[in-house]
Amino acid sequence: MAGEGKTGKTKVLQEETRIFEPPKELVENSNVMKYMKKKGIKTEKELRETCSKNYIEFWDEMAKEYVDWFEPYSKVMDDSDMPYFKWFTGGLVNMTHNAVDRHAKGAKKDKIAYIWVPEPTDQATQKITYGELAKEVNKFANGLKSLGVKKGDRVSLYMPMIPQLPIAMLAIAKIGAIHSIVFSGFSAKGFGDRVKDCEAKVAITTDGFYRRGKPMPLKANADEAIADAPSVEHLIVFKRTGIDVNWKEGRDIWWHDLVKGKPEECEAEKLDPEHRLFILYTSGTTGKPKGIEHAQGGYCVGPAQTLHWVFDLKEDDVWWCTADIGWITGHSYIVYGPLCLGVTGIMYEGSPDFPDFGRWWKLIQDHKVTVLYTAPTAIRMFMKQGAEWPAKYDLSSLRLLGSVGEPINPEAWMWYREHIGGGKLQIMDTWWQTETGTFICSPLPITPLKPGSCTFPLPGFNTTIYDELGNEVPLGEGGNIVNETPWPSMLRAFYGDKERYHKEYWEMYWETPKRGTYLAGDKATRDKDGYFWIQGRIDDVLSVAGHRIANAEVESAIVAHPNAAEAAVIGKPDEIKGESIVAFVILNVGVDPSPELSKDVITHVRKTLGPVAAPTEVHFVNDLPKTRSGKIMRRVVKAKALGNPTGDTSALANPEAVEGIPLIV
Ligand code: WT7
Repeated sequence: MAGEGKTGKTKVLQEETRIFEPPKELVENSNVMKYMKKKGIKTEKELRETCSKNYIEFWDEMAKEYVDWFEPYSKVMDDSDMPYFKWFTGGLVNMTHNAVDRHAKGAKKDKIAYIWVPEPTDQATQKITYGELAKEVNKFANGLKSLGVKKGDRVSLYMPMIPQLPIAMLAIAKIGAIHSIVFSGFSAKGFGDRVKDCEAKVAITTDGFYRRGKPMPLKANADEAIADAPSVEHLIVFKRTGIDVNWKEGRDIWWHDLVKGKPEECEAEKLDPEHRLFILYTSGTTGKPKGIEHAQGGYCVGPAQTLHWVFDLKEDDVWWCTADIGWITGHSYIVYGPLCLGVTGIMYEGSPDFPDFGRWWKLIQDHKVTVLYTAPTAIRMFMKQGAEWPAKYDLSSLRLLGSVGEPINPEAWMWYREHIGGGKLQIMDTWWQTETGTFICSPLPITPLKPGSCTFPLPGFNTTIYDELGNEVPLGEGGNIVNETPWPSMLRAFYGDKERYHKEYWEMYWETPKRGTYLAGDKATRDKDGYFWIQGRIDDVLSVAGHRIANAEVESAIVAHPNAAEAAVIGKPDEIKGESIVAFVILNVGVDPSPELSKDVITHVRKTLGPVAAPTEVHFVNDLPKTRSGKIMRRVVKAKALGNPTGDTSALANPEAVEGIPLIV
């Protein structure tokens, strides 16, 4: 599908002709059809168009339908200070009240909120009801208060997939503090940088975690990370594995000691809807990660509503989103969305291949999972292992599938439908971002699917494709995917960096008649039927196993190696991970290249940024092609390395450098 050009127009090169109509029964019983009938809406097109055109009324209606407000809002959306859009002005709300308390105090008290499956097969699955969840959240919230955590304080979390992670999030949100979760696969430095950026008052971690059956240390990393983070007053440690830990008296406190004797009741703070719910760091085009801020009010609406419509969740569904809570997918669709809807969800602690590649499929069989939401990178990994693994298990409880993180290649799509979906399940390919908080372009259960397309903008979103001047491109062409109007679960700011927030998302169309249009940062095309096909990032951002990693961040880690002078990092297409990271490195004068040094560079990046960001190949070169202003031309490096035409190199200061880039395919 890929076309050429940086921010300019792209073309649809290839067309997918297969269409998969949704089964009648799915359509007739769907949540979205119920809405259509209520409103007298006849077609999907009419639904998507009217809700998006009247987006203010639509979100008003959704906010009333899905959220319990302590105080009703007086204004749905305030755009008087663009791009700082505000939602539900005048209202008072609390996420945890919506996600937990109202269920715990009502008919869902004994309904299971989470089925938690630990990785070690000799440990028991835990089922946690909404009533029990409420108690745990309250005790921990009271524990946080006893440490002096107050409304507006930041709390950084560095935890594996255990129930204490959502418990901590919900407790933090309940008292109006702000959580910032860092994926536990990040290195100590990765965690430390983020703790320092948001100036967390308290950090939470575990002694360790299980990976492929073995206990691994985690607190040791957290210790290193916060050693030079003066804002952190306390480190709360949940005992997961029982491995030895170092202990800093006065700073460290065990989770079990903190909650001991704490009351099981804790009143939710009544918060302004714009009050921040969390900060989540994501990669941008510069080396520095950006702290995306999300707000309480909008987040009570978006995840629940989109989950209800797209994945069609009903009272008796068992929902499994396989993401890690450390990423936005987990925030929205393991924690806030499903809990606000009061459904039962799965949380799995460990690796998909432990003890073997049947683990996920066994889990689906054992717990009768009905809706599965996962990533193309996982599908491709399972494809490689062979269809015999899922074939061993009874997957007949499944009724709907989903995909997220990167474009799903049609081959993986077909395999997913065939071998997981019994050759008949629809696949909801949801396109969205950390910044958007919820799905933006996605099929509904009523949508005819084309493998590899995320289909259309959801009701309530005015998503389209622009050229660089702000003109909508015609069907059949591509360009920048944009949102012309705001939405409740949108990002609100970057923590501590107003200028960059404006620059990254709003500046592109600020001086056009389309001021206030959000630039998502992806290129996309639409085919003649209006289906959206995402082509990837506008800027240089890698997508490794569904994780977004800035080329610049990896490069800056490499050049921090004492022997490395300069580096260019590119993504090489990888059957399983989408992209693997390949680095071209110029060594300091007098240093000789060697295989050991190449390994050492990889280890160095693994240590500084974590295993997800480690290159799989390092090639030493004498020079890298640069512009006259000294900017390394990654595009040219990549083209040469992958054996593609290098295109226009007239802007290069040193065109001879191109010859020295080895072919790596
Ligand atoms: C970027 C956002 C959204 C949760 C996971 C990643 C890419 C995401 C799709 C999809 C094509 C996709 C985009 C987007 N992406 N979903 N269904 N089809 N591309 O969150 O780390 O914020 O990354 O992931 O490039 O901009 P994220």
